[in-house]
Order: sequence, then structure tokens, then C-alpha cells
Amino acid sequence: MNQVINTLLAHRSIRKFKDEKVTEEQISLIVKSAQAASTSSNIQAYSIIGISDEKTKETLAHLAGDQSYVANNGIFLVFCADLYRHEIIAQKEKVDFSTTLDSTEKFMVATIDASLAAQNAAIAAESLGLGVCYIGGLRNNLHEVSDLLNTPKRVVPLFGLAIGYPAHQPDVKPRLATTAVYHENRYNQSISKTEQDIANYDQKMTEYYESRNSNKRVDTWSKQIVKKLTTPTRMYIKKFLSDKHFPLK
Ligand SMILES: Cc1cc2nc3c(=O)[nH]c(=O)nc-3n(C[C@H](O)[C@H](O)[C@H](O)COP(=O)(O)O)c2cc1C
Repeated sequence: MNQVINTLLAHRSIRKFKDEKVTEEQISLIVKSAQAASTSSNIQAYSIIGISDEKTKETLAHLAGDQSYVANNGIFLVFCADLYRHEIIAQKEKVDFSTTLDSTEKFMVATIDASLAAQNAAIAAESLGLGVCYIGGLRNNLHEVSDLLNTPKRVVPLFGLAIGYPAHQPDVKPRLATTAVYHENRYNQSISKTEQDIANYDQKMTEYYESRNSNKRVDTWSKQIVKKLTTPTRMYIKKFLSDKHFPLK
């Protein structure tokens, strides 16, 4: 195995960071790596907002559901879907992009671009010996987050990435079997096979939760998914998108 794959396979979310800043040089490398990701037709429909200001971090931590590691980290990056620059081109070039910029497709392009950039940033950070944790909790309160970060129309904060020197070493969380997520040539719809994949993973996760080095508990993946998906969350997002000129036509 090579170093890149070793880094990928050693990933675990880090939720406790040392009280040590990430340097400007490290941030620059991480952002450059993010920018090197593939981007749909080179449209580069995302922005990254680096949060170093302690007070802003604390407000974000609160808005994200009081997650302490949003405040206590080396740097916090917010990844946004961003079609603002494209709107500026439309104005400058005196053309009308509204049909395309209003489309669900372009929102998907922007979220995909932002996600690819973010994952490059995460891997770059991990390759530098830093730890990361994505923070979707920002979407608990997007109106407040967007006011705080001054994001204009056609920009949507999607998630954050807390980065810093790890102050703990959680176990790597097992994933579904590769054969559960990888289909050859066509999708395998077999319910019995899918049920078996899920049962196998429930077993694996039960063992993981029983034996991990912190926060041990009795749980299965199925139980977690039931809990998660029977609780509607963030149902206001469609309205927020429309307020931010993402009408998803
Ligand atoms: C888009 C996204 C949002 C996430 N949001 C949060 C979050 O708000 N808080 C948190 O503690 N972890 C968050 N996570 C981390 C996941 O819980 C974690 O990646 C998952 O449980 C797998 O664990 P691992 O990263 O340690 O392998 C998020 C992950 C992703 C990809």
C-alpha cells in the first residue's frame, strides 16, 4: 500500500484537538489541495470561508448544536455552494443566466464541487498529521450562519470542517462491506442480499461499539438509521435555498 491509501484508510473523525493553531502555510496547502479537486466544467462553484476568529467560532459552535470542537480547533473551514461569481459574470457580460442558475442541476453541481474540494482538503490535512471533523450541524441554523458569515445570494454554507492536531485517537469506524456498496456493471437489487449485508454490518458495528476505546455502547447500524430517519430534521432548508436564490427549478 502507498502513503495516500494508508492516509485514507486511517481516517477517523477527530473531536478533540490540541490547543495549537494550524499555520498559515498549512492552511494555504490545504486550500490549494481543495482547489486542485476536479470541478464540473471548471465552473468552480464553491467557496471556502476560513474561521480563525474565536468569537465567530464560538457562535458557530452554538449554532451547530453546541459542538465544542467547532470552537476548539486549529482552524475551521466552512464549505459553501457558490454561484455568486457566476451571477457577477452575467451582470458584467450583460447576459441572463437565471434559467441555468435557478436549476436544481446547478445546485447539485455546486454541492458536488464543494464536497469534492472539501474531501481533498480533509485528506490534505490528514496527510499533514492533522485531524478533521466535518460539521453538518451548521445546517441547523443556516439563516443565522449565513448572516454571521455574510454570505450573499446564490451562496449556501453546506458544512464545516474542523481541523487541528488530534488530542485523542479514536478507533477507525468500520464501514459496510465493500461488496455491499460496490456493484458490478449493474445495480444488484436483491433484497435478501441487501438484508444480509445489513445484518453483517450490524454485527460488525455491535462488536465495534462494545470494544472501542471510548464511548462504548450497545447499538447497531440499523437502530441508528431508524433513529435518524424517523426524526425529520432541518425541514426549513428548501425555504432557505429559495431565500438564497436557489429556487431548484
Ligand atoms: C457532511 C458531514 C457532516 C457531518 N457532520 C457532523 C457533525 O455535525 N458533528 C459530528 O460530530 N460529526 C459530523 N460528521 C462526521 C460523521 O459523523 C462521521 O464521518 C461518521 O460517523 C463516520 O465516522 P468517521 O469519520 O470517524 O469514520 C459529519 C460528516 C459528514 C460527511
